[in-house]
This record gives sequence, structure tokens and C-alpha cells, in this order.
Amino acid sequence: MLVRAVGRAIYNAFFHPLAAFPGPTSHAMSRIPYCWKLLRGTMPYDILSLHERYGDVVRVAPDELAFSNSEAWKDIMGHNPGVEEFGKLSNFYRPVEESPVNIVNADRKDHGVLRKLLSHGFSEKSLRAQEPMIQVYIDLLVQRLHENCSGGATALDLTAWYNWTTFDIIGDLAFGEPFGCLQNSEYHPYVHLIFESARAGTIFQTIGFYPTLKKIFWAMVPKSAMARFVRQTKLSMAKLARRMEPGNERSDLIEGLLLNKEELNLTIENLQSNSNILIMAGSETTATLLAGVTYLLLSNPAALKRLTGEVRSTFDNESDITMTSVNQLTYMLACLNEALRVYPPVPTGLPRVVPQEGRPVLGRYIPGEVNVPLYGGSLTSLGLIPQQKHFTEPYTFCPERFLGDPRFANDDYEILQPFNVGPRNCLGRNLAYAEMRMILARIVFNFDLSLAKDSEGWMERQKIFLFWQKGPLNVHLTPVAR
Ligand code: HEM
Repeated sequence: MLVRAVGRAIYNAFFHPLAAFPGPTSHAMSRIPYCWKLLRGTMPYDILSLHERYGDVVRVAPDELAFSNSEAWKDIMGHNPGVEEFGKLSNFYRPVEESPVNIVNADRKDHGVLRKLLSHGFSEKSLRAQEPMIQVYIDLLVQRLHENCSGGATALDLTAWYNWTTFDIIGDLAFGEPFGCLQNSEYHPYVHLIFESARAGTIFQTIGFYPTLKKIFWAMVPKSAMARFVRQTKLSMAKLARRMEPGNERSDLIEGLLLNKEELNLTIENLQSNSNILIMAGSETTATLLAGVTYLLLSNPAALKRLTGEVRSTFDNESDITMTSVNQLTYMLACLNEALRVYPPVPTGLPRVVPQEGRPVLGRYIPGEVNVPLYGGSLTSLGLIPQQKHFTEPYTFCPERFLGDPRFANDDYEILQPFNVGPRNCLGRNLAYAEMRMILARIVFNFDLSLAKDSEGWMERQKIFLFWQKGPLNVHLTPVAR
């Protein structure tokens, strides 16, 4: 066995079809160094520092190339009519093979149908119809922050408050009911489970590369964890069943699927899986960006001052802050875009697999079945990656770069794709911007903010297990006297 492993490592390093691509020899020989980084929670940083050393294309595992180039987005993710789409890596998107199909794990054929039907709930018209439902939760958030802030004396954990708000909003829009997080000022067990599963997700991803380990892993999962998972699945099924009862029709994110479920033979498991994935895709991401932008603003007082001035001079009354009126806040939009650059909510690579016949990427032939992940942001937040090549002043939080400031004329905006591009791009992008703009505007309108001492360095300490592992972001909120 040892001889076979050594022989395989030598083949991988020197005779494999990817042998000519640059990268560390240890990574070319075996997937173990890659898995070690994945399990340590530092993978995106490690990969990006490899780009620093080896260039835009790096061999990060025997059968995996990482790309850091704006053209690669078009080759790998873009709409390329007439040719087969790059597949999604099943280890990552469908670690349990028997799991029901949903919009994120579906193959190309199923995806087209699901995407068409779900798009209905994300249209401009639907978004307008959903605004009153969203505002209910933002009102409740602001009310709760007033109740709990003790005039600014008590620091509140905004990581939690943002999570509670976005999970309640998307819970309502995808399952017909909120999770009651804001109502009870605590995490619902379903939401807890999502966060707790992140590390297990990384383990799943790793053992996906070593199928013989799968059985051992399953045997080690405690029965109590499985029971919790089953309990939460039943709970979400019950929510969905209530949403499907006659008289509960409304313009939400799953309306399109519910209206066509018979025609498409969609089982309750398929519907639940889609609602579930909408929650995963739409809640943690938006809350992460809100926490990230809040931290970045608090660490850059000049930017916070300018944003505060913009919000308070645009609106006389809180009730004027709506989905339409927040579009006037151009500096706020620049702050959100700069936060997406520095702290992309989807920090892991989006793993894709080259179709069987092979495909050119950046003008070079890549054989079939090779993994080719792409990273959506520049990940400069830890200060590890001097991306001078792509951005001027890469470490500075500088919203002005999105407002035409000539200092940043050479920035490479095409390399930043925090919502992905092409047929699998984010369906909820407009909803995310609408939520983020309304929530941030309401907070800045109502409160003066200052970072608690124990949250200094909040962003710089984080590891990545599927999501950013965010600790509490403690902030003093002092109500504005009017
Ligand atoms: C700042 C917030 C958000 C960011 C950065 C973000 C980012 C992304 C990214 C990178 C993908 C591609 C994933 C992949 O290819 O593996 C994606 C897909 C998706 N996102 Fe978002 N997302 C955000 C908010 C939302 C919201 C609010 C929703 C609403 C439920 C949503 C729904 C979706 C859906 C349904 C997909 C799958 C689209 C498809 O495969 O056709 N996202 N998102």
C-alpha cells in the first residue's frame, strides 16, 4: 500500500496531465495538504497566498487548479451557449447523494426548470409585494435595539441581531413563517443547527475526497445529532405544509414552485429542500455582509461620518426609508460594495469540474474532471494578500473606489464576483441589496455607533468553515436625540 501511495505521488508530481502547472510539489503529489488547510479553516487565505507566489493559475491538489483572473470567470462560470456547463463538485454541493434536488445542487437540466420557476419570486414586482413583509422585521429589529441598548451603555452583539433579522425575513419568505428570533431575542434551534453544521460541512467535503472514510464518519456521528437534524426537518416540513394550505397564497419566494408542483412532480421533500436552501443562501450571507460593513465603518470613522451625514440629511422621518428611497444613498451603496470586496460573504471557492472532453480556460486546455474553484472577493481583510496587482490600496476600506475616484482608475472590478456570474449567479442579489440598504439606513438613522473594546480586531480573527466564523460584534448604540 505504501509503495502504491509513493508511486501515485510520483506520478502526480511528474507525469500527471497537470504536471506542467505551477504550485507547491506537496500539493501536486497528494490532496492531504489541501485537506489539512480546509480542516484548519484557512483555505481561502492559503490559496490566495499561493496565487501571490505562483501567479494566476496554481495547482492546489493533484486534480485541482485554482484561478485568480477576471477572464477565468467568463470561461468557467459564464453563459457559453452551445457548450456543456462546468459541473458542480458533488462533494461540496451534494455530500449526501440521496439528498433531494434543489436549485443549488441540481444538474443543468433540473436547474433550468427550478431557476425559471423560482425567478418569479425574485422579480421586481414580487420584491415590491414583499416589501411590507420585510419592513415588519426591520421595524421589530429597531424596536428591540432601542429596548436593549440602555441608551448606549450596554454593547449589543450585532452579529446575532443581524442573523436574527435576516433569518426571520427569509424564513417568512421561504417557509411562510419567521423563526421568531427577533420576537424572542434568541437563535431558533433550526438556525443554530445551520451554524453548527458548518464545521461538519467542511469534514464532509474532506471525506468526499476519500470515499472509504465516509462510512467511518457516519458511524461516528452521535445519534443525538441525527435526531436534532430529523426534528428540524420535520419542523420545516410542518411550516411548509401550513404555507401550502388553501387561503395562504401570497407573493413570496416559493410561490412559483408551489403553483407548478403537480406539473413538475415536486414532492414535499423537494419543496422543503428548496425552501431550506433559500434560507441557507439568503440569510447568513446578508447578515455577514451587514456585520462586515458595520465593523469596517466603525474601524474607519471618516467613512462612518460621511455615511451618517448622507442618511440623516436624506431622510427627515424614519418612515421615509423604503426600498425605493434607499436607492438615493449612493455613498451607502459604495460602502456595501467595498465591504463585499474586503469581506465577501461567500468566502470559499465555488468548486466547478471541467466537462469530460476538457475545456480551455485562459486560453490553455484543461483536461476533463479537473476541479477549478473560483473565489468571489479579494479577501484582503487579514492583510495576507497584497493584491496590488488588482487593487490600489488593497488593505484600505475605501468606498470612494466605487464612486469614480481617479486614484482607483486601474482597479480590476471584473475579478470581484461576490454574487457569481452566469447561469448559476445569485438569484437573490436584488433582495440582498434591498435588505442591506434598508437595515443599514434604519440603524444609522436611529443610532450613533461605537465599537466595544472587546470587538476590536473582530474581522481579523476569523477562520472559515464554509462561512466566516464570526464571533460577537459588540457595538454601543446610542439613540439619536430628535
Ligand atoms: C450579500 C448577500 C449574498 C451574497 C454575497 C450571495 C452570493 C451568492 C453566490 C456566490 C452564489 C453562487 C453559489 C454557487 O455557485 O455555489 C449565490 C447563489 C444563490 N443565491 Fe445568493 N447571495 C446573497 C444573498 C442571497 C439572498 C438574499 C438570496 C435569497 C434567498 C439568495 C439566493 C441565492 C440562490 C437561490 C442561489 C442559487 C442560484 C442558482 O444556482 O441558480 N442569495 N449567491
